[in-house]
Amino acid sequence: MSEKLDSGKVFDYSKKYLQNPKEVKKLLDFYFSDKDVKNKIILDAGCRVGDYSKILVDKGAGKVIGIDLSKECVDAAKNRYKDIKKMEFIQGDIRNLRRFKDSSFDAVICVGTIFYLPPKEVRVVINEFLRVTKPNGTVLVLFQKEKGKIVKMARFIANKMPLKLYFLLIDKFAFLMKPAVKTLVGRNISTEYLKYDVLLSLKGINFGVPIKINKKFRVKTVKCEQCSEETTATYKIKVPKDKKID
Ligand SMILES: C[S@@+](CC[C@H](N)C(=O)[O-])C[C@H]1O[C@@H](n2cnc3c(N)ncnc32)[C@H](O)[C@@H]1O
Repeated sequence: MSEKLDSGKVFDYSKKYLQNPKEVKKLLDFYFSDKDVKNKIILDAGCRVGDYSKILVDKGAGKVIGIDLSKECVDAAKNRYKDIKKMEFIQGDIRNLRRFKDSSFDAVICVGTIFYLPPKEVRVVINEFLRVTKPNGTVLVLFQKEKGKIVKMARFIANKMPLKLYFLLIDKFAFLMKPAVKTLVGRNISTEYLKYDVLLSLKGINFGVPIKINKKFRVKTVKCEQCSEETTATYKIKVPKDKKID
């Protein structure tokens, strides 16, 4: 992970962007019924400004803890939801969840985040998710599938550009790229989503599933604004007693 990603600086730029709640609900409803979530304690790993945490609470979760590297996003999440006691937001790194005891969560969700880790650190993070989740609990994690040359070239350019300049260009010209990106990702996306998620995310992103996870945990990816089976590989892991998944 680059120094800037490590400090969460890249995602500070997305603190004002709010995901479409209907699309977030669509994703969460696809993987969890309200009964699955009711009164459960859930970790939202890479929570940004709390969009997923909020829908989990709306679905009946007992408590949701959101953790994110970006201080500005975490502050925005705290401010947005200061009146909801069932939500707590912490600035931190999902590579180190030592603050949480073993088996302290019923579920961990990690949407749009694991692929910012260097591939060799993904195993560490998944082991941490398994450690903090109860046996029979759930770890939901979405990876980016491998991409073609055009996307890899765009990532190369994004990573070469100074962050401020890159963000300025995204902000001014993203709308011009919308038709091309729609064709590439195969789904409708809003200009805001394109700016603050797709394009911003190109900085530091990694593609593919760099660790072995038993095929039985692979589930279909829901089609919504954030993902689709064409672009995303989803694993819904029912945590075994021995916490081994390969
Ligand atoms: C594209 S956003 C996705 C946020 C949210 N889950 C969603 O889908 O809207 C990725 C988030 O992961 C966070 N992130 C990246 N690496 C992280 C790490 N090692 N530990 C904690 N958060 C991280 C970023 O700060 C950013 O807010």
